[in-house]
Amino acid sequence: MKFFIDTANLDQIKEAQDLGVLDGVTTNPSLMAKEGITGKENIINHYKKICEIVTGDVSAEVISTDYEGIIKEGEELSKLHDQIIVKVPMIKDGVKAIKYFSDKGIKTNCTLVFSAGQALLAAKAGATYVSPFIGRLDDISTDGLNLIAEIRMIYDNYGFDTQILAASVRHTMHVIDCAKIGADVMTGPLSSIEGLLKHPLTDIGLEKFLADYKKGN
Ligand code: E4P
Repeated sequence: MKFFIDTANLDQIKEAQDLGVLDGVTTNPSLMAKEGITGKENIINHYKKICEIVTGDVSAEVISTDYEGIIKEGEELSKLHDQIIVKVPMIKDGVKAIKYFSDKGIKTNCTLVFSAGQALLAAKAGATYVSPFIGRLDDISTDGLNLIAEIRMIYDNYGFDTQILAASVRHTMHVIDCAKIGADVMTGPLSSIEGLLKHPLTDIGLEKFLADYKKGN
């Protein structure tokens, strides 16, 4: 299972990269705005900085919603760095654009996916990644993890290569449950990754080992 960090915060990206388990980064316009990164040039420069920190895939989202606009923007983004994955929304023109990018060998991440039907369409169009938003489904009392399981079944039934990128991950249990179901990738905040480290028995056990070592020395 690949671990992506879902942020545009460079310090957090560095911290996750230093842990040695990071496989990539996802961003979106809201995450960029949260870091105060606005305007095309600043956003482009920020993507370049992220690519310099990590070794894996970096999703960069298009703003256009029409076919020609998505193609133009996506081609520009993909030329920035070979780690860039063009993130395209699950809309009609987005699906057409994913097919175009797929035929051209440009990697894509189909975002804002909330149903198995949308995920099937993204795979048919040749998306590299599909991003079902599990946290946002949970927010409206719909089981986000069930969607991951449905997509896993459908993709396995037909041998689709599209990787399931569990997005809108909010906490560590989401990560563990996605791993059990067989999501190919998860993207979440640094806290969802670091939460995997923690167990009170580890802390108690370490404290005892160190205390016993001190007794004998
Ligand atoms: C990542 O690709 C998505 O944009 C992100 O995970 C959405 O997360 P949120 O629902 O916490 O905003």
